Amino acid sequence: DIFPDRINSAGVDITDPLVREPLMARLKQLESVHWHAQPTFCSDDPDFQAEIAPINKPHDLTSEVGTRRDSLPEEIDAAIAQASAIQPGWNALGGEKRAVLLEAAADLFEQHTDEFLSLCQREAGKSLMDAVLELREAVDFLRYYAGEARAMFSEPFILPGPTGEENRLSMAGRGVFATISPWNFPLAIFIGPAAAALAAGNTVVAKPAEQTPLIAALAVKLCHEAGIPDAVFQLLPGAGDVGELITSDPRLAGVAFTGSTETAKAINRSLAAREGPIATFIAETGGQNAMIVDSSALPEQVTRDVVASAFQSAGQRCSALRMLYLQDDIYDETLEMIIGAFEALEIGDPVRLATDVGPVIDPDAKAALERHIARRKKAGRKVWRRKLPKGTGAGCFVAPTIIELDSILDLKRENFGPVLHVARFKAEHLGDVVEEINTTGYGLTLGLHSRIEDTRRFVEARARVGNFYVNRNQIGAVVESQPFGGEGLSGTGPKAGGPHYVARFATERVVCIDT
Ligand code: NAD
Ligand code: ALA
Repeated sequence: DIFPDRINSAGVDITDPLVREPLMARLKQLESVHWHAQPTFCSDDPDFQAEIAPINKPHDLTSEVGTRRDSLPEEIDAAIAQASAIQPGWNALGGEKRAVLLEAAADLFEQHTDEFLSLCQREAGKSLMDAVLELREAVDFLRYYAGEARAMFSEPFILPGPTGEENRLSMAGRGVFATISPWNFPLAIFIGPAAAALAAGNTVVAKPAEQTPLIAALAVKLCHEAGIPDAVFQLLPGAGDVGELITSDPRLAGVAFTGSTETAKAINRSLAAREGPIATFIAETGGQNAMIVDSSALPEQVTRDVVASAFQSAGQRCSALRMLYLQDDIYDETLEMIIGAFEALEIGDPVRLATDVGPVIDPDAKAALERHIARRKKAGRKVWRRKLPKGTGAGCFVAPTIIELDSILDLKRENFGPVLHVARFKAEHLGDVVEEINTTGYGLTLGLHSRIEDTRRFVEARARVGNFYVNRNQIGAVVESQPFGGEGLSGTGPKAGGPHYVARFATERVVCIDT
């Protein structure tokens, strides 16, 4: 263990009524807070016409959580200029001092648990359990990358000097990094890449997803309160056009992006076309994730893990299960058990404790999923759908759905929501199934339920995925224990929360002194 003093955040034990009840009362009070996100250095020039967009609750579009003031081109330009000017000083501070500041931010995040949980629920439509997990992951990223700053950016590494010379290798920040993040982990994936970039000695301009700028604004504010200078870590709210302006700036040394594969490709093209240095590009993108279940698997365990992997977080995890392959001879009975558990899912307002499946993020996401389901029905596929309960009409709810298909190759794009596809396979075709999964070109998560060691080895040796989960669910990677990220269409690596991540944000310098 390279960080023996660091342990992951304990989170909030919502199973304990002594913790849960005061928390629920506090969350109720926080319901009335109206939040606002704006650029860190917001121009007050009346000539600038900035757009103010309302942020509504995904589970009730008639209710506003706060407002987003978009970043103007002049502000983006000034933000990158300031971040460039201050970067050498931030880098010169050294790994130890940067680590202390990141750890102070982690402590403040924990002290503001209630606000973060409230925002995760109201702005992003997360269930309380998902919100708790999200905050834990954010805190873990801050502390893990602080440890990396200390380990890699304090003293130079001394290298062998075979002819008597002194050889030193040191790591430094590359310059200004832009971080562009998605709405589905509005806190953890907003703060994780930014914390890694900061740990390595870069300054950061951060653009959160347009749907979830309020959580990001609170995170940046607390980082500033922890002592990270405002110019070192700046918020630039806005939609894709703001992201486009930021990532086309020739002064950037790198971009850390998490989001869809299409957007990653657009940013990659823009980075290649611009003037300036060759940028570092780190992209964590979509998945077409499968699980394979053979006849040796335990049906109860399979049912629990399939339902969690496909429907927790309303299926809005990049890691979520989209395509379940059940071995032919257990297909009917296992599917029946899965449908039984699926019928028991509680759908509704994420603020209610009992809710298992909350809303999807916005009307566009809902429409895309409904189109996908309608097309499959029209094509004569067998479809199981839950009914939405009363009282969900004002929100972006999609009734959890299971669709029978022949193969993962019937899916042309990622369907980002509570929709599970299922197909059967014969034991002798296991190799073909793995090959089909590889053929999609995505490579994020893969699940396997099998008690046969040779099967595990067979699949492990052939599957081209970043995270392979055996006899468990395939979501919820834990910082340091399961570094997370994919390959191919799913991303460039390195893995978030793993030992090679921070180094990708750094440049290496070697000094050789002859005697
Ligand atoms: P998205 O690609 O639509 O948006 C992501 C971010 O990119 C947003 O901040 C958006 O404003 C910005 N953006 C959009 N167009 C841009 C452009 N041309 N230039 C610069 N920035 C631009 O993705 P999303 O809908 O917010 O997130 C869901 C996606 O993220 C899914 O595909 C999911 O699989 C993926 N995801 C991947 C991981 C992972 O670790 N691999 C984790 C979470 C989410
Ligand atoms: N890291 C997240 C998970 O594993 C995306 O579910």
